[in-house]
Amino acid sequence: MGQIRIENLSKEYVDRRRQKRSPTSPKTHGRRVRVLDGIHLEFDAGEMVCILGPSGCGKSTMLRIIAGFEQPTAGAVWVDDRRLNRPSPDHIFVFQHSGLLPWMTVSQNVELGIRHMEDEKEKAALIQEFVEMVELEGFENHYPYQLSGGMQRRAELARALAVNPEMMIMDEPFSGLDFLTHMKMREEVVNMHQLIGKTILLVTHDIDDALIMGDRVVVLGGRPANVKLDQRLDFSHPRNFEKDEELGRLREEVFLMLGVSYAV
Ligand SMILES: Nc1ncnc2c1ncn2[C@@H]1O[C@H](COP(=O)(O)OP(=O)(O)OP(=O)(O)O)[C@@H](O)[C@H]1O
Ligand SMILES: [Mg+2]
Repeated sequence: MGQIRIENLSKEYVDRRRQKRSPTSPKTHGRRVRVLDGIHLEFDAGEMVCILGPSGCGKSTMLRIIAGFEQPTAGAVWVDDRRLNRPSPDHIFVFQHSGLLPWMTVSQNVELGIRHMEDEKEKAALIQEFVEMVELEGFENHYPYQLSGGMQRRAELARALAVNPEMMIMDEPFSGLDFLTHMKMREEVVNMHQLIGKTILLVTHDIDDALIMGDRVVVLGGRPANVKLDQRLDFSHPRNFEKDEELGRLREEVFLMLGVSYAV
């Protein structure tokens, strides 16, 4: 479960900002801007796929299409040989910016995705299990504003996990976190992935995140964007750039690919 095939995917937006508009002008009227161009990718079920690419190249757009929130201009996404055409509760999206509901406590936020469960005891046990998995025990009754940025992200992770989705789609889940929290979250997501074995698509701007966490790394680039690199990462965990020469070389290659000639 969770095998993904992206076939010849293209996306164009209509840029209407610089167009003269009238109430009768059609929505399709305007300059068409192609963001994604003929993307082919295949991910195995259970793979952790890390997606890199320069800002504005279309990473979030691709994720939104895979999640079924947006329709492609051409091409298709297949999940386990089913053509995807609308959002599904099996495909959970963790957003680039916090998506917790501010008027709900941690427990209530985690409960959101499983509120249909009838057995109250079972539901409470599940909420507790995931709150503990992300190390938020003791904060169940706190509201998001009473949590640090890292704790909010962990609460979001718990909410996504409780739904038991067949795939998780994460758009820069570590953005805005301090260095140590970022490192810790990275470790937690790797551990969680090894534990639950679900397909995870994770967009990051951090090359090291991608190479340390991923079973596969995909680099998008160009205008419109296409696939610059799609490579399996068969390195054992924990990964270390200094100790593993091949991984170190790949890191330099990806830095160069993204336009940085000196990998720090
Ligand atoms: N709804 C929209 N209408 C028009 N243009 C859009 C829309 N959404 C995105 N775009 C354009 O598509 C391009 C890709 O945007 P996208 O958000 O996918 O980039 P990204 O790779 O996720 O960038 P970042 O790393 O900064 O998050 C941008 O040039 C953006 O202006
Ligand atoms: Mg984005």
